[in-house]
Amino acid sequence: MAILEVGGLTKHFDIRPGLLGRLLSGKRRQTIKAVDGVSFTLEEGTILGLAGESGCGKSTTCMMIAKLHEPTAGTIRFKGRDIAGLDRAGLRDYRLAVQLIFQDPYESLNPRFTVFDLVAEGPRALGIWSREETARRVLEALSLVGLKPEEYKDRFPHQMSGGERQRVGIACALILEPELVIADEPLSMLDVSIRAGILDLLRDLSARLNFSCIYVSHDLSILSNISERLLVMYLGMAMEIGPTDRVVRNPQHPYARALVEAVPVPDPRYKRPIPAIRGEIARPIDPPPGCRFAARCPQAMDACRRDPAPAMREVGPGHFAACHLLDMDAPDSGTAARAL
Ligand SMILES: Nc1ncnc2c1ncn2[C@@H]1O[C@H](COP(=O)(O)OP(=O)(O)O)[C@@H](O)[C@H]1O
Ligand SMILES: [Mg+2]
Repeated sequence: MAILEVGGLTKHFDIRPGLLGRLLSGKRRQTIKAVDGVSFTLEEGTILGLAGESGCGKSTTCMMIAKLHEPTAGTIRFKGRDIAGLDRAGLRDYRLAVQLIFQDPYESLNPRFTVFDLVAEGPRALGIWSREETARRVLEALSLVGLKPEEYKDRFPHQMSGGERQRVGIACALILEPELVIADEPLSMLDVSIRAGILDLLRDLSARLNFSCIYVSHDLSILSNISERLLVMYLGMAMEIGPTDRVVRNPQHPYARALVEAVPVPDPRYKRPIPAIRGEIARPIDPPPGCRFAARCPQAMDACRRDPAPAMREVGPGHFAACHLLDMDAPDSGTAARAL
């Protein structure tokens, strides 16, 4: 069963460009299309990886699902219910059921709170348990994330390492026994040497505590380690989605292929082909028509620069990609045209 169904999710930010921007664009107002019609489903008890370079709209997607941003358009259904229509009680339940783990534990943890108070903050704010019950559960949550409660409960954030702080961030999310955890690049601020431990912890806890998860990273090697399905975004749009092993072994969209090629290989004797994309990711300000990736795509054709942007086409079991090159291969069939 799907725990989360996202349809046509869109977030546009209207901005007033600065003087230079106004001179260059000739416009007083511009629209940043941070997320532009993204659809996916998350099956209960599974981990969906969300991939894409910085600026692709990953965090904005997460914030809309966590109800920290209102979508410009589109729907988010949680266990079959549209979260836009939740009443007060429904919203409170939703805020309990969906928890975020942030990128930077130093920024997200109040420096004046002890570990105990940090982890107790959510339950206290929601008033869900008695004092004793909250205390018992805080200590339990700390053990769960591998921090000895007696040793850590009275510490302040600055008295811990980055990895320990992120474990506290995970305890803050998990104490509320969420059904859905959104982890937005939880390892990217941490030292490489301690990332594996936190990654193992998250994977182990998601299986033991049986929560569903959206795990965001720009690093495909992490996502292929943790996620069952993978969604590749580029400048606000979904380029490819499918079972992680299929997307990583056989990426169909040129952008997904470039991301896969950019993954470091541990064998130093292996000479990696140079990734086939040029240029830098731009901001999606008043983006041109057609495929968002066309400006950087080595295989772009005229059709790619015209609306509508290519539609998602099934390229294998549960595996979809949005690229005109795939339409050319299979002009007459919308489903499973390219058996993998
Ligand atoms: N509050 C905001 N106002 C204006 N632009 C924003 C805002 N939040 C994000 N953006 C822009 O939206 C785009 C996507 O951002 P984000 O979702 O943070 O991407 P990612 O998490 O993939 O790096 C970026 O170009 C970013 O500058
Ligand atoms: Mg982000």
